[in-house]
Amino acid sequence: MFKRLFGRGSRGAMPRDTDADWEEIGRSNPYYGVLTDPRFKTENLNDKVRADFFATGEGDIRWASELLTRRYPDFSPASALDFGCGVGRLTRALAAATGDAFGVDISEAMLAEARRSALPGTAFGCELPDRTFDWIVSIIVFQHIPPERGYLLLRALMERLAPGGFVTLQFALYRDPRHSSVPGGRIVMDGDFTMVSNVAALRELAKGEMVMFDYDLTVIAAILFAAGVTDLELSHTDHGGFHGAFIHGRKAA
Ligand SMILES: C[S@@+](CC[C@H](N)C(=O)[O-])C[C@H]1O[C@@H](n2cnc3c(N)ncnc32)[C@H](O)[C@@H]1O
Repeated sequence: MFKRLFGRGSRGAMPRDTDADWEEIGRSNPYYGVLTDPRFKTENLNDKVRADFFATGEGDIRWASELLTRRYPDFSPASALDFGCGVGRLTRALAAATGDAFGVDISEAMLAEARRSALPGTAFGCELPDRTFDWIVSIIVFQHIPPERGYLLLRALMERLAPGGFVTLQFALYRDPRHSSVPGGRIVMDGDFTMVSNVAALRELAKGEMVMFDYDLTVIAAILFAAGVTDLELSHTDHGGFHGAFIHGRKAA
């Protein structure tokens, strides 16, 4: 089934080297690359701004924990995997919630920054660890990875989900028509990054830009269901006309 679902895209050339983009973003503007609020640009960073930045991660993890607890009253994960961890905005909060949080990121520059302010209970690396976790989290990450590759990564993540474990995942799924009818296929969104709205424009774009990709919910569901994550809750996200979904769920015990 997966062979058919992944189709030609998994064998063809990737539309863009997004890893190179993120290495560049991680070097120049790691915090702003994660949350495109001008306060988080490198030149504006100080202790107070950093504290505000990490507080947003605590808020996100609190929100996800409350949602999962409402749905699964026995929600009490003892480990978490944060896929696409960036500078550890969520990893730190996940460590506070579970005592054992591992952040994975493709960008060495992001990981270096995450390690610089690491808290007890956190660890970071560029490879998926060979172990299982009670909670797998990935927020505002897959939307920046070409889907042909992202579906394979999602499957690899689900192989690391413990029986009875939980997921908090976010995907971009579709966009407002205004974003697909922009001349040249480009728009500037949320500050300095150019977002590209058609694949043809991807190849011309300078390194270090932030690219958005929409995923197919049917393929996502097939991967999750095949991994035993059959109980799901979906909620809408809208980042300036880029629509997507949060997926919260649980793997059968
Ligand atoms: C917008 S940031 C989000 C960071 C973090 N999830 C958060 O919410 O704070 C996206 C992150 O995904 C990472 N990323 C992009 N492609 C990746 C890949 N193929 N594997 C792992 N991480 C990736 C980037 O380096 C970047 O740190």
